[in-house]
Amino acid sequence: MTDKELRVSEAQIAVHWQEENKFAPTAGFIAQANMTDAEIFQRFSLENFPDCFKEYADLLDWERYWHTMLDTSAAPSWKWFVGGLINASYNCVDRHLQQHGNKAAFIWVPEPEDEPHVVLTYQELYVRVNEFAALLRDHCGLKAGDRVTIHMPMVLELPITMLACARLGIIHSVVFGGFSGHACGERIADSGSKVLITMDSYYRNGKLLDHRVNGDLAIASARDLGQEVEKMLVWRRKQGEYQSRSKMVEQRDFFVDELLADYRGVRVDPIPMPAEAPLFLMYTSGTTGQPKGCQHSTGGYLAYAAGTSKYIQDIHPEDVYWCMADIGWITGHSYIVYGPLALGATGVLYEGVPTYPDAGRPWRIAEQLNVNIFHTAPTTVRTLRKAGPDEPAKYNFKFKHMTTVGEPIEPEVWRWYYHSVGKGEAVIVDTWWQTETGGFLCSTMPALHPMKPGSTGPAVPGIHPIIYDDDGNEVPPGSTAGNICIRNPWPGAFQTIWGDHDRFVETYYARYNKDPESKDWRDWPYLTGDAAVLAEDGYYRILGRVDDVINVAGHRLGTKELESASLIVKEVAEAAVVPLRDEIKGRVPDMYISLKPNTKASKKIEAAVVRAIEESIGKIARPKNVWIVPDMPKTRSGKIMRRILTAISNGRDVGDVTTLANPDVVEHIRQMVQGDDTKTDA
Ligand code: PRX
Repeated sequence: MTDKELRVSEAQIAVHWQEENKFAPTAGFIAQANMTDAEIFQRFSLENFPDCFKEYADLLDWERYWHTMLDTSAAPSWKWFVGGLINASYNCVDRHLQQHGNKAAFIWVPEPEDEPHVVLTYQELYVRVNEFAALLRDHCGLKAGDRVTIHMPMVLELPITMLACARLGIIHSVVFGGFSGHACGERIADSGSKVLITMDSYYRNGKLLDHRVNGDLAIASARDLGQEVEKMLVWRRKQGEYQSRSKMVEQRDFFVDELLADYRGVRVDPIPMPAEAPLFLMYTSGTTGQPKGCQHSTGGYLAYAAGTSKYIQDIHPEDVYWCMADIGWITGHSYIVYGPLALGATGVLYEGVPTYPDAGRPWRIAEQLNVNIFHTAPTTVRTLRKAGPDEPAKYNFKFKHMTTVGEPIEPEVWRWYYHSVGKGEAVIVDTWWQTETGGFLCSTMPALHPMKPGSTGPAVPGIHPIIYDDDGNEVPPGSTAGNICIRNPWPGAFQTIWGDHDRFVETYYARYNKDPESKDWRDWPYLTGDAAVLAEDGYYRILGRVDDVINVAGHRLGTKELESASLIVKEVAEAAVVPLRDEIKGRVPDMYISLKPNTKASKKIEAAVVRAIEESIGKIARPKNVWIVPDMPKTRSGKIMRRILTAISNGRDVGDVTTLANPDVVEHIRQMVQGDDTKTDA
């Protein structure tokens, strides 16, 4: 049986979630919040669409103010703030100099704990962005509209590089530093980049990794695909010292610190770009098919990133904000670089892994730098809970606001985040969105709504979701799940898939469109591809990708609710459920769990998981097996690869696992499940 046959295409899923109690924001938080006016939802109602988004556009400085809010003439390619000219680098850097020039834009924390932090002020950021922009223009001959691929770790030079591109209207395509040279090469070829910007090395999990080697592999892969890279610029983690075994190729490879000597003190005027000019490409790492280069605009994207950073992230210039994500993902673009910098915030940039050298590291950093806003993904929260549940209590830090992003968070994990990390005082926003959407779609407004563990919350201002069943009927609140779509365009939405506009229309807009000729935005709901359920109280619960639904004897179960039920068992750290073919029921759930440290696998735990699932969902959801594994196979961004577990459960080949964060664990699990002459115990 193929993966496709195992998937369920129906949107409707029987939903068995328990209702959770709500938690109110504290009076102290509300007193300082950027947005305490419930009228905002009236201002951003569909009646006031699209003019409501002027409020976000006006957070920016425009070189020439726009004349048309929304142009729908090329539906479903929406153009926002038409007629406007704007520069993203100016908005994130220059305009803060007068008031905040000597304030930290970023505090960089190297992974080795004995290496000192580096503080980069807005004034220093300005100088470095200008000098590097001059180098891109004069040494590389780059100009507005050219694409550049950036393959770098979490260092200050990464935002500097992005902002230097933006200053000149060069479209940057940042590839996550943990991706292989080959994956980088594919993205170079797809974007048509002639310049690759990389770094020699960086620290990860206590080791200095040779990153520059990926450059040669990337260039070779791009060449195989027909794209020649003319120049590779190599930043050095330690100035003047080259930490890589790869040879530099003459005329092609250059050390940035050497070249920069010629550009000291040079200033480059920011180029005013049309609002709809592309600012960057961000490739989504789809599990199937060619990666999609999501093209984001300059004016609309920046306005949306700034607006949501202000109201949902609640960032003020005096805050110390730490988004512990990687800039190589959309979260890092919108909520480490563009949104916070547009607001003149101080951000923390951490080079390494959260658990190095131990699970107390994030909390030591928070204590030392007085971080008061914290942002990360459920996978990281689970990891930190697993490795050091009592660590947060040992450090004297105080968050006022925390974010979770990227996948549904199990209520048990949410409660640990709230009580142990947030110390019962921080608000939590569970932000649901996608690479394609540029910024948040759903979240509670931190000072206006109570929080509900496991639910993302209502839509954010200006976003109007609708849940459709497979036939295009609206699914009412308080009933079943369906395909969650967004009815209206919004400024942060991506413009197209680079080089494949038909796929853009087909994948995201064709499903519920009735008239392909229509120029009316009302005819083009945006299909997110997620299944969701809307509760009576207006809170959405995201059940995951529609593809991740399991159909057991005609009952459709969301993977997340089964996983969440397993986490009620206190020994369980992570859970993943996949469909196992069953002659009678069609499919049955097959459950994989990993345990908290110092917990021994036992039949008792397996039985407790089965009981928890039966109790919270029903006997219908009883898993066929509970496999206790040392770790889940994960992507580099921490997402559990259910596709691989599905293959293992169903006795199929796991395919290529080389891009995973932990490929070794796959073979271990395979032997455990499929059995082998070398049977292994977890
Ligand atoms: O399934 C949803 C899930 O992650 C998908 C988007 O992934 P990506 O493009 O990598 O962007 C991640 C960062 C925005 C969505 O389609 N997802 C994201 N946030 C949440 C979520 N699922 C549930 N709750 C969330 N808060």
